[in-house]
Amino acid sequence: MTSPSTTYRIAVIAGDGIGTEVIPAGIDVLQRAVRDEPCVLEFTAFPWGCEYYQRTGTMMSADALDQLQAFDAIYLGAVGAPGVPDHVSVWELILPIRQRFDQYVNLRPMRLLNGVPGPLAGRGPADIDMICVRENSEGEYAGLGGRLHRGTPHEVAEQTGLFTRRGIDRIARFAFELAARRPNPRLASATKSNALQHSMVLWDETLDAVAADFPDVAFRKYHVDALAARMVTHPGTLDVIVASNLFGDILTDLGAAISGSLGVAPGANINPERHHPSMFEPIHGSAPDIAGRGIANPIGAIWAGAMMLDHLGLTAAHDRIVRAIERVVGGGGPRTPDLGGSATTRDVTTAVIDALV
Ligand code: NAI
Ligand code: MG
Repeated sequence: MTSPSTTYRIAVIAGDGIGTEVIPAGIDVLQRAVRDEPCVLEFTAFPWGCEYYQRTGTMMSADALDQLQAFDAIYLGAVGAPGVPDHVSVWELILPIRQRFDQYVNLRPMRLLNGVPGPLAGRGPADIDMICVRENSEGEYAGLGGRLHRGTPHEVAEQTGLFTRRGIDRIARFAFELAARRPNPRLASATKSNALQHSMVLWDETLDAVAADFPDVAFRKYHVDALAARMVTHPGTLDVIVASNLFGDILTDLGAAISGSLGVAPGANINPERHHPSMFEPIHGSAPDIAGRGIANPIGAIWAGAMMLDHLGLTAAHDRIVRAIERVVGGGGPRTPDLGGSATTRDVTTAVIDALV
């Protein structure tokens, strides 16, 4: 007799380049991690991405978003390929999914794992352990604007940021609630209200109003440029960071860099109300410079998969995977070239599976 089990339906968009190498690695680890849980992970692969675009003229099929709505979660590799403009791959696949499914929280842990040589001298895992809560539905990536007089000397482009009190309020509440659950509740807000006197002043005012509901969280605002510097000079003073769409995008690549490699950093695009599927992805791109060689670091994708299990309620499996990653990188296990080793994607994946206990 087997116990009753829940089936979780997961849509897989491996995408392009190393996305097609790290996502199968992640799926193998996830399947193995839930082996003894009363659940089934059912993965359904979709062929969308730049190759699909070159064949069909669109990044996804016309009913893609309707199809995806039926899933419990989406597991994404990366999209982008030489020959397809990056704004096409981003605006025809990633941003429509984030917007349509109201995945307004982009959650990005930034941790220097034990055993990883970080680039900051004298800083270790105790110093670099942060998480960014990035606004993911509006702001600088609202997509508003246009171009006029194309190709003429007086061509103009306008890119409009859109900030709403409701949009800022909901990301602020998510960030404060997360900070309140951390051992030493602290929240840093990335602003730029000295120069951006409309949008970022609304950002600050809304954050201040929400802060009043969380008296136990130490709250500070930093201009984003100073915050970027602080991540390098005093990373140990930072814990949870809340940022707008553009600022969070930039700060989290910096966070990944000080964590040793873009290849280890995971990300989650979350619809907290669970009206729609959330989407989990490594934060790196398709890395055409190393694609096809089997040497991409799978850890970011594996860790993103673990975050997906956590979101689905499989927290024990999440914890097992993160501990296995920690054991492999901290215990002298195989590492890919981005971490200074010579192992393959497969070597690291097998080592993580073997370290699952
Ligand atoms: P990228 O993240 O693909 O690569 C930046 C550098 O990091 C490269 O040198 C790459 O080899 C290295 N790298 C990235 N992930 C790695 C991994 N797992 N293991 C080892 N090394 C790794 O960013 P780039 O080069 O700016 O963009 C390449 C393409 O990816 C572009 O088309 C871009 O639009 C797309 N992109 C897609 C994203 C997504 O799908 N979410 C995010 C970022 C970029
Ligand atoms: Mg980015």
